Amino acid sequence: MPQTPLAVVVLAAGQGTRMKSSTPKVLHRLAGLPLIAHVLESARALEPAHLVVVVRHERDTVAASVLEVAPHAQLVDQDDVPGTGRAVEQAVEALPADFAGDVVVVSADVPFVDHGTLAALIAQHREEEAEATLLSAVVPDPAGYGRVIRRRGDLVDRIVEQKDATDAEREVTEINSGTYVFRVAALRQHLPFVTPANAQNEKYLTDVIGLVTVNGGTVAARTVEEAWRVEGINDRVQLAAAARRLNDRIVRHWQLEGVSIVDPATTWIDRDVSLARDVEILPGTQLRGATVIETGAVVGPDTTLVDTEVGAGATVKRTDATLAIIGAGATVGPWSYLRPGTDLGERGKIGAFVETKNAVIGEGSKVPHLSYIGDTEIGVESNIGAGSITANYDGVEKHRTVIGSHVRMGSHNVYVAPVRIGDGAHSGAGAVVRKDVPAGALVLSVAPQRTIGGWVEAKRPGSAAAKAAAASQEAEAQGTE
Ligand code: UD1
Ligand code: CA
Repeated sequence: MPQTPLAVVVLAAGQGTRMKSSTPKVLHRLAGLPLIAHVLESARALEPAHLVVVVRHERDTVAASVLEVAPHAQLVDQDDVPGTGRAVEQAVEALPADFAGDVVVVSADVPFVDHGTLAALIAQHREEEAEATLLSAVVPDPAGYGRVIRRRGDLVDRIVEQKDATDAEREVTEINSGTYVFRVAALRQHLPFVTPANAQNEKYLTDVIGLVTVNGGTVAARTVEEAWRVEGINDRVQLAAAARRLNDRIVRHWQLEGVSIVDPATTWIDRDVSLARDVEILPGTQLRGATVIETGAVVGPDTTLVDTEVGAGATVKRTDATLAIIGAGATVGPWSYLRPGTDLGERGKIGAFVETKNAVIGEGSKVPHLSYIGDTEIGVESNIGAGSITANYDGVEKHRTVIGSHVRMGSHNVYVAPVRIGDGAHSGAGAVVRKDVPAGALVLSVAPQRTIGGWVEAKRPGSAAAKAAAASQEAEAQGTE
């Protein structure tokens, strides 16, 4: 028997009013990914013949995000008839006229329905030869959800929305998850008869369930055990709760993979992060985007890494880094700011109160204290003195500083780019390096020190400073007698 063809419809046209946001609801992020990306991932895993996404509110922004995750998705624009029923009606119209299979409907704001749950729902739908099969859950607080109303023999009768429910119906704790499988024929038959005669003046998809049963068809239901999987996200309270729940799972996953996470409550890990065994994460750490941490590295406390690579055995303490590479055995922090393009070599060091950007710092090279290093290349085993600045911007353009290997630069140097420092060069404290320095040279740019003895006595007689100086001179004279 040939497999029944499958289409998946993702509903993403709604306004998301309760979010009170200028960002479309389905693009709010959960563990680093937009809500809709989570749903699209589960949908794609079913390998449907058609993947249709219904859009309307902030259409172009949502569409761009959809195509990033699912380039082959078919976008359907909902017209100005509101409601999930209208959205599905238009999605079905967009399918080939001869499509005769099953249609899975999922909501872009219900992010935790995974591939396994959908596959089980489809299997049950086919086994029971139902016209429609819905995914439900029994929850302690059903407020806001549609309720599943069952009749004699526990068969599903219909779904009633919270806003249209009687007091007795509101007592029902079995909720509709907004996830279904329909035979396409049932949708084609019943959707034209769904009307917006309800509290929200919308065409409800949920009305199809009642129409199927009234016409003698079978509606099946699958109740998920893990009720949290079907939680819908409508406001920021639910978004934060969902983020917490997903984070707990991600943290637990990495713990079981051999990562030490000292304080799960203050550790936030995005879904696409990758951690090796024996990594240690200290409290207050956020690992975002595609951050990768190799074995034995210690990260935190109070560190945020975005799309950053940390090599084996490195230490990264109280640091903020984005699009940076930290080599094996390197040390970073405390209080370091690594901006995009920072590439610290093995055993290198970026120390306290150092900001780096577009800076390739070679193996074993160190920028230990209070510096800004930008648009710079440093060779291996070099040392940059405390309080040094690469002056990379002349007010119009950015320029590069190129520093060789094994250099020993003094404290409080300014490198006025473009400038090059040769291998093995040294510099004195406070040097302002404006011209290229050849290999092995010593560069000094500060005028020799002048000390004018007795100046205070002559120019500030009677001042506290003059008295202190006189007392000190007297004490010294007595001491030498
Ligand atoms: C819906 C269900 C409700 C269920 C709940 C589960 C209906 C009528 N109600 O309610 O029974 O308990 O989901 O989370 O279906 N959308 C469109 N076009 C529209 C309106 C909505 O595409 O015209 C999309 C939204 O973007 C969203 C999804 O459909 O992704 C659900 O819409 P929403 O308004 O959040 O429905 P709920 O009130 O949560
Ligand atoms: Ca919803």
